[in-house]
Amino acid sequence: MDSITLPSPAKVNLFLRILGKRPDGFHELETVMAALDLADEMRFERRPCGITIECSAPGVPCDDSNLAVRAARLLQERFGIQAGTHIVLRKRTPVGGGMGGGSSNAATTLRALGRLWELSASQSEFETLASRLGSDVPFFLRPSVATCRGRGEIIEPISAEKCRALQEAAVVLVNPGFGVPTPWAYRSYAARGGVSAEPKRDAGPLLRALASADLIALAGELYNSLEPAVFRKYPILEMFRRSLVEAGASGALMSGSGATVFGLCLNVRAAEDVRSKIMAKFGPSLWTHVARFAAFSGS
Ligand code: C5P
Repeated sequence: MDSITLPSPAKVNLFLRILGKRPDGFHELETVMAALDLADEMRFERRPCGITIECSAPGVPCDDSNLAVRAARLLQERFGIQAGTHIVLRKRTPVGGGMGGGSSNAATTLRALGRLWELSASQSEFETLASRLGSDVPFFLRPSVATCRGRGEIIEPISAEKCRALQEAAVVLVNPGFGVPTPWAYRSYAARGGVSAEPKRDAGPLLRALASADLIALAGELYNSLEPAVFRKYPILEMFRRSLVEAGASGALMSGSGATVFGLCLNVRAAEDVRSKIMAKFGPSLWTHVARFAAFSGS
C-alpha cells in the first residue's frame, strides 16, 4: 500500500456540562458528542522517512505544531518506525470552530498510519496515544455518537437504537470566520464563577430524548456550559443562535468552545430552508453548511 485516503469528520456537542476543575488544570466534563458527515479529506503517502504536511487552508500550521504531524511522530516514536509519510489535508471544516477539526485530523492520522505502516497496535494502545494528543482525540478514533467524560477522553458510545432522534435530523452550521481559543473559553468560564454559578444539570434528559426519537424534546435539552462566557465576548454568536431558531430550527447551540453555532432541524429539507433564511439575513459570505449525523448518513 503506497497511500491511503480517509475522511476526517467534524462533530458537534449536543450537551457540554462542566463539572469542576481538576488538579491537572483541565475541567471535568460530561459531554455528548455526535460526528457529522461534514469531513476534511486526508491522504497519507508512504515516504522512506520524514513527516511532512501540505494544507492550503489559512490558519492551519504546516509544521511540527500541526496535531496530525504530532500524531505521526508519536506513532514513529512509540513503534520505532523509520518510514515516513506526506500528508495532504483538504480542510472543509472551519479552523478553531469547536467542531474538533484538529483532534479529528490527529485521530485519522493514527488510524491511517496504523494501516500504512502495518502496525500491530491494539485499540486500547491507540486510545492511550490519542488521549495524549488532546481531550477530544479518542472520540474520533470511532466517530459516532458518544457520552464523553473525564477531560473528554473517557468514551461511552451510544448505539444507533439509542439515538433514533438523529436518524432524519440535520444541522445548519454557522461560523463567523474566526475561532475561539479553547483555553480562553475555559478561563472565562472560571472567571464568571465557574460551576457554582450555573444550574445543576446532567445529560440524562437529553439521552432519554435521543432514544425516544423526539427531536423537539431533544432540541429543548441542548446545553453548553461555555455559552454565557463566550457569548459575552462575541455577541454575534448569540445572535446566530437566536436567528437559527427564528428561521425555523427546532433548537440551536454553540458547539464546544465555539465559534460554530448549529441549528438542529427535523430533516435536510428543513435545514436547507433555515440555511437560506440565515444567508438572506447575514449575507452569502457567512460560512454556513447543512450536515447530517454520520451515524445515519452512510458516511
Ligand atoms: O485537550 P485539548 O488540547 O483539546 O485542550 C485544550 C485546552 O482546553 C486545554 O489546555 C485546557 O485549557 C482546556 N480544556 C479544559 N478541560 C477540558 C478540555 C480542555 O480545561 N476537559
